[in-house]
Amino acid sequence: MHTLITGISELRTVSELGTIKDASLLIDGGVIAWVGPAEEIPAGADAAERVDVGGRAVLPGWVDSHTHMVFDGNRAEEFEARMAGESYAAGGIAVTMEATRSAGAARLDQLLAERVAAGRAGGTTTFETKTGYGLNVESELEAARVASRHVDDVTFLGAHLVPPGAEVEAYVDEVVGPMLDAVKEHVQWIDVFCERGAFNDEQSRRVLEAGKAAGLGVRVHGNQLGEGPGVRLAVEMGAASVDHVNYLSDEDFELLAGSQTVATLLPACDLSTREQLAPGRRLIDAGATVAIASNLNPGTSFTSSMNFCVTTAVLQQHLTLDEAIGAATTGGAKALRRHNVGEGKDPQGRPAKGTLVPGAAADLHILDAENAINLAYRPGMPITWQTWVAGERVYG
Ligand code: NIG
Repeated sequence: MHTLITGISELRTVSELGTIKDASLLIDGGVIAWVGPAEEIPAGADAAERVDVGGRAVLPGWVDSHTHMVFDGNRAEEFEARMAGESYAAGGIAVTMEATRSAGAARLDQLLAERVAAGRAGGTTTFETKTGYGLNVESELEAARVASRHVDDVTFLGAHLVPPGAEVEAYVDEVVGPMLDAVKEHVQWIDVFCERGAFNDEQSRRVLEAGKAAGLGVRVHGNQLGEGPGVRLAVEMGAASVDHVNYLSDEDFELLAGSQTVATLLPACDLSTREQLAPGRRLIDAGATVAIASNLNPGTSFTSSMNFCVTTAVLQQHLTLDEAIGAATTGGAKALRRHNVGEGKDPQGRPAKGTLVPGAAADLHILDAENAINLAYRPGMPITWQTWVAGERVYG
């Protein structure tokens, strides 16, 4: 089934093909077959179904590479207290743990479906999510199973917090033993909250090594609440990403710049916790690869709006529009190892995400605007017109 999209005022391919004005795009079987100027539509495209988007801008769908969407309940009171001067403490995770444990799989399924739909309504086409509000074998397994029914990539985050009443070393034993055994067939990644008040360097390393030995890719929550070992550990372990990165030493910048580990900015979280914004400008200037993600969760970022995160990265973190769009598309794809390594394919030979080149997934974010600068120029205004996943319209 071929679809030819016409009437594109500005096609941001987020690739070496750059931005094409007055463009068209041909989709074949869920992947991009051709992109180029409207006057160069290939002859074979005549038989395709035509969709005219009326002079709107088209970019790759957002790749949201960091969320915690398997939860029930909310922490509005904690948030309100924070806005009145309290500081963020990870202990609130235990409140969400209680609500999530008692929710049941059917309710979690419904919540995940709603959260994915809300993300799509904001232009997100690829979703990662973590477990991490179950914190025992039964509930982490339930979270992993539910997540795997709704999102592209699932991350095991049993090492999110030591649950109340548990002793840390015994809990790490449980995470790397029975919990990992139970969830591993449902997840692709392992993660750890490497931070004062959660897991230290040594405990975090144990968790990541066990995940690696089980065949999982590695990612790290690091340097969110203060400088610490997270970035160094992530780089040493060959992690696909280290996320938060608010407090970095000079050495951390160098390590990130010299590695394949993506530094993921979570601007909505930084605003919600009133932490200093992650140094996105300096990371890019240093040569690090940067992603932007929503960090959807009830404690520090109760939003799935990637549009908001991209806007904030431009207005507050001083990324250019190109850099911010790149970070929220190919940056996220790199953080999930779904990026283009040639001919539109990812490292595993699947259609790449976060780029609009032949061979890549036909995941589109069509803006209700002639050009993408409106994301930052008109902050907060409704801007997602349609969202397409694998060549099918899923929103708008
Ligand atoms: O990424 N930092 C750790 N985990 C989440 C917050 C979890 C919570 O407070 O519920 C985050 O911000």
